[in-house]
Amino acid sequence: MAAIGMNLKLYVWRQKSATDKGKLEQYDAKNVSPDMSFLEMLDEVNEDLIKTGKEPIVFDHDCREGICGMCSQVINGIPHGPDDQITVCQLHMRKFKDGDSIFIEPWRSRAFPVLKDLQVDRGALDRIMQAYGYTSAHTGGVPDGNAIPVSKVDADASMDAAACIGCGACVAACPNASASLFTAAKISHLALLPQGAPERAIRVRSMVDQMSEEGFGDCSNHAECEAVCPKGISISSIAMMRREYAKALRHG
Ligand code: SF4
Ligand code: FES
Repeated sequence: MAAIGMNLKLYVWRQKSATDKGKLEQYDAKNVSPDMSFLEMLDEVNEDLIKTGKEPIVFDHDCREGICGMCSQVINGIPHGPDDQITVCQLHMRKFKDGDSIFIEPWRSRAFPVLKDLQVDRGALDRIMQAYGYTSAHTGGVPDGNAIPVSKVDADASMDAAACIGCGACVAACPNASASLFTAAKISHLALLPQGAPERAIRVRSMVDQMSEEGFGDCSNHAECEAVCPKGISISSIAMMRREYAKALRHG
């Protein structure tokens, strides 16, 4: 017997442009399969809107498998929605039940201006990366696996930090709209490796200074960022960023 779909009430943020005031609009999502992804559900709502000559809801997405960090939506007040350590594109409708109301909004932060509907400009995170989120040392060809010794503890911690996909959910969840978790993840994954060591002082100063210039707030240890991060980045990386910054200042 075919499964009976759910009927849901969606309250979606609609905003025509960056300068428009924007407001929540209500839509009915009918006969939604619990096996659909959240974005597939929105695709169907958009199909219905297009059929009736209305503007579809604009939202960002790309990989739809949790690796590009594009799908930035606050669902019922939680960046990436009600499931643990996943992105919106990995969220399934089985997390909701028939008759539910779902509120869908864009990331909210002064540094992430809304472009249209649920789409925000996250270029500020790119500029933090451009400030020094890389190594410029020539590392040659692919080295032998064990040519540069790295302790297992450091290699694992670096790999964990490198899992950050730059989605910006940490900013959206933080009461200060701080990008500290993102910036700290990018700084620590290089600072923990020998390849990142020669430029670690200039890197941390450049990236932290850029973060402030972009208008993000500072961290005051609420840990909301860690709670919503789809990749489980630990706030211990923020402590490491602070230590790196203090060392860089001390040594000029
Ligand atoms: S730290 Fe987590 S929440 Fe923040 S940008 Fe990286 S993956 Fe997204
Ligand atoms: S669409 Fe790529 S992480 Fe969601």
